Amino acid sequence: MKLLTATLLAVSCLLPLQQANAKPIEIKFSHVVAENTPKGQMALKFKELAEARLPGKVDVKVYPNSQLFTDATVLQALQLGDVEIAAPALSKFQKYNPALQVFDLPFLFKDMDAVDRFQHSPQGVALLSSMNDKLLVGLGYLHNGMKQLSSNDPIRVPADIAGKKFRIMTSDVLQAQYEAVHAIPLKKPFAEVFTLLQTRAIDGQESPWSNTYASKFFEVQKYVTETDHGVLDYLVVTSAEFWFGLPEDLRDTLKQCMDEAIAYGNQIAAKQDLADRQSILDSGKTQILTLNPGERQQWIDAMKPVWKMFEDQIGSDLLDAAIQSNH
Ligand code: LMR
Repeated sequence: MKLLTATLLAVSCLLPLQQANAKPIEIKFSHVVAENTPKGQMALKFKELAEARLPGKVDVKVYPNSQLFTDATVLQALQLGDVEIAAPALSKFQKYNPALQVFDLPFLFKDMDAVDRFQHSPQGVALLSSMNDKLLVGLGYLHNGMKQLSSNDPIRVPADIAGKKFRIMTSDVLQAQYEAVHAIPLKKPFAEVFTLLQTRAIDGQESPWSNTYASKFFEVQKYVTETDHGVLDYLVVTSAEFWFGLPEDLRDTLKQCMDEAIAYGNQIAAKQDLADRQSILDSGKTQILTLNPGERQQWIDAMKPVWKMFEDQIGSDLLDAAIQSNH
């Protein structure tokens, strides 16, 4: 908190300088996925709204597809002031707040409505500002969707995945989830996934339909198993130094634009999830495997013990709140 207070004091001294400066404030928004994804569309909507409502005052530059920073470097870049907005997957925040690992627990949320209820619960809202002392300010959650497994081999039950290499995000929970089914998880940046799949350096990966479609993973994978085993959502995040250094009226308008852009992105996420599943099916390149209740139960039985391994780091109250969001 001391660091935050010092930063706020320091940046408030800069305010008159910023106000005197007639040049538009540059806002770089860096992300790692394609433009035709919920996150890509949300970022462009934010640019459209912000530049329309603050003409001449802000210049929003959106950098998709890891053009500016990869997911491995973007949070540090935010802290250093090299970029102003990012929206990494929640799985990428564990070193800043281990409680956020709750979102990665396998088979915790029964669907996206449950995820949404948890994010809007008092506990979910509190997580947004939980990293302010690390100079990372959460502006809101953005949905993508539930994750599915893609692979070059048909995977129906945990025994089918044993010994196979799967790309994961930089999350210890996801590592434990794959180790629980005797697979080999590899933490790799999103920008490398297509090539790793194409060259068969890995056997598979897990993503919501929109990423598997937009990043063309389905073109180099024979199967997608519809497991819905976890969620991939985002935290839209800015740096405390940038955000609290803005004039208050401008910050309020930008927050309003961001809220609307997130609502727009969430609508797209819900529609695109189904549409991209269908496009993958229609491509004829990838077969979609659905699980019967017995097969699904095998995954739950194998992976659910991971919850206990992370309960202390996450906090049992937070975990309980997440469980309650299913009702
Ligand atoms: C991933 O690394 O798989 C995701 O974080 C990519 C994204 O931003 O959707």
